[in-house]
Amino acid sequence: MKLWTGRFQKEVDPKTNDFNSSISFDSRMAKEDIEGSIAHATMLGACGVIEQHEADVICGGLEGIWQDIESGKLAIDPNAEDIHTFVEGELTARVGDAGKRLHTARSRNDQVALDLRCYLKKECGVLQAQLRQLIDVLCRKAILHSEDVMPGYTHMQRAQPITFGHHLMAYAEMFLRDVERIGDAYKRMDVLPLGSGALAGTTYPLNRELTARLLGFSGVSQNSLDGVADRDFCVELAAAVSLAMVHLSRFSEEIILWCSWEFKFVELDDAFSTGSSIMPQKKNPDIAELVRGKSGRVFGDLMTLLTMLKGLPLAYNKDMQEDKEAIFDAVDTLKLCLTPFIPMIETMKVLPQNMRAAAAKGFINATDCADYLVGKGLPFRDAYKITGALVAQCIAEGETLETLPLSEYQKACPAFDDGVYQAISLETCVAGRKVTGAPAPENVRAQAERVLKLLEQAGKTC
Ligand code: ARG
Repeated sequence: MKLWTGRFQKEVDPKTNDFNSSISFDSRMAKEDIEGSIAHATMLGACGVIEQHEADVICGGLEGIWQDIESGKLAIDPNAEDIHTFVEGELTARVGDAGKRLHTARSRNDQVALDLRCYLKKECGVLQAQLRQLIDVLCRKAILHSEDVMPGYTHMQRAQPITFGHHLMAYAEMFLRDVERIGDAYKRMDVLPLGSGALAGTTYPLNRELTARLLGFSGVSQNSLDGVADRDFCVELAAAVSLAMVHLSRFSEEIILWCSWEFKFVELDDAFSTGSSIMPQKKNPDIAELVRGKSGRVFGDLMTLLTMLKGLPLAYNKDMQEDKEAIFDAVDTLKLCLTPFIPMIETMKVLPQNMRAAAAKGFINATDCADYLVGKGLPFRDAYKITGALVAQCIAEGETLETLPLSEYQKACPAFDDGVYQAISLETCVAGRKVTGAPAPENVRAQAERVLKLLEQAGKTC
């Protein structure tokens, strides 16, 4: 049954129906649609727009519908135009005339804007919880590996010594900001659009604040056109989710590298790796690769939303039905990726001796050697030049800064004494980097503890 019977003299062509229908993807908002309708009917009853007993009948009927959907007794009709049509039709079939009063002072335009906000608000919480779980794993691993030296890279070239713990905490900080960004998107989503009507509000004396309170919104939208016509809250969430995917994808890329025989910094647990059908020796980091691969579809979702909105005159246009598949896919994909990614990180075996060996090879203590000379009174530029020449000499002679004899150091600059070996030991180099944010082990431990405490507080407020 169509909601618009009256004006039309003909049934729509089934092809129109198939094309127009959104039930295949909006039925996941059934719960939010029903909750929204219960709140609307309660408010209509409280304001005297409908009789109180009618409101009660409507609410009872809606509760029954939800129970039956949840228990599997009631199947959602795939031929209904959308979830709103389905619920209203089912209600009227169950409770008769009272059901026909539910849509008083409401349009599907403000209804869909409401349902989507309610649905996504919940999803924000789910995503934040998953990201916090990942951050928790990273912090615990970082504390464990706060002393394990590894090479830090720029341009994929060994650059300066850091620790594995420090590296992990970089990602923890990124994911923390993702949690915050999702929270920011939530704040602006947390506004009730119901009462905007089709576009121009309504003449009924509604109490929108009451509906907002009943549904747990912290405010009501201030312009009816805006209330039904914008989907910036979807764009904001898709952007936050996209950034989380960027972070996951970069992390994945590193894990893939670290798993290679060329690096062998980590080994993934068998339960979170895959084999090859032909090469018996293979252990592939498929999860990380798929996460990296799936980031593209989420960016696509963000582009879908932006492009869908950019040419739309106010207020509602049917184009906006395209919002749901895009934002659902973005949210689903991040959840899907995090589900195996978190235990993959948790169970991954770290190989500190391989990291240490890689760190010992790339002259990553050259800056520290120059800094040592600065400590002896040389200007940094001179110290830099002398150290550069020593590195070149080492490369030519197959030495490292650690193995180069003191006599060679002193030939390059008489200020060197045997304290240089202590100064360039990788442990000294890392331990000396104590400035806020630097990789000194006690820094990294304090940072991880601070983040763990933040997570604990967030857990309590959830
Ligand atoms: N299924 C529609 C959507 O997702 C619901 C709103 C329909 N409104 C309308 N005026 N046709 O956007």
